[in-house]
Amino acid sequence: MKNIVILISGRGSNMQAIADARIAGARIAAVISNKADAEGLAWARARGITTASLNHKDFDGRDAFDAALAELIDTFAPDLVILAGFMRILTPGFVGHYENRLMNIHPSLLPAFTGLHTHERAIAEGVKFAGCTVHFVTAELDHGPIVAQAVVPVHDADDAAALAARILVEEHRLYPQAVADFVAGRLTIAGQRVLRRD
Ligand code: GRF
Repeated sequence: MKNIVILISGRGSNMQAIADARIAGARIAAVISNKADAEGLAWARARGITTASLNHKDFDGRDAFDAALAELIDTFAPDLVILAGFMRILTPGFVGHYENRLMNIHPSLLPAFTGLHTHERAIAEGVKFAGCTVHFVTAELDHGPIVAQAVVPVHDADDAAALAARILVEEHRLYPQAVADFVAGRLTIAGQRVLRRD
């Protein structure tokens, strides 16, 4: 059984999709948030999933917070750590500690539109397709080997909320699949590429 620890900061809909997928061979060992009042924590708690929170404001800087966070995560002996709307930039030390076992989902077709406000920026740039990307996390923000992507059309009438909603449907399908592939040992990282065998 592989232990999964999920980090969230807000509603946690991707965390819910992963939990609801009941991935064979995986158990969600804990859901951890940097915000004690994150909506997703209440959902997980109600499901009987272990939860914890660690407020970054209680720490003197990123290094101290990330060190404490890693210490907490490691008490759950994770095989995979999942970022699911975890709104913190992580230090290279933290990322290095979880090398090849730290995944993120980003609501754009990376390497386009890294960072925040992806949907607004995609519409402003006039792209005709947008989507989401699951990738392994490296020290460079929203870079790292791409595990999977899903594409959606951008319609003329879209505003950021409409596009975000269309992409979120794909996120909820893509992320559990990527986690299942990891858990089943189907993924191999080869430089910047992730190769998937059936
Ligand atoms: C998602 O759009 C995800 O791609 C981004 O943050 C959002 C989190 O949403 N990283 P949720 O908390 O999973 O509902």
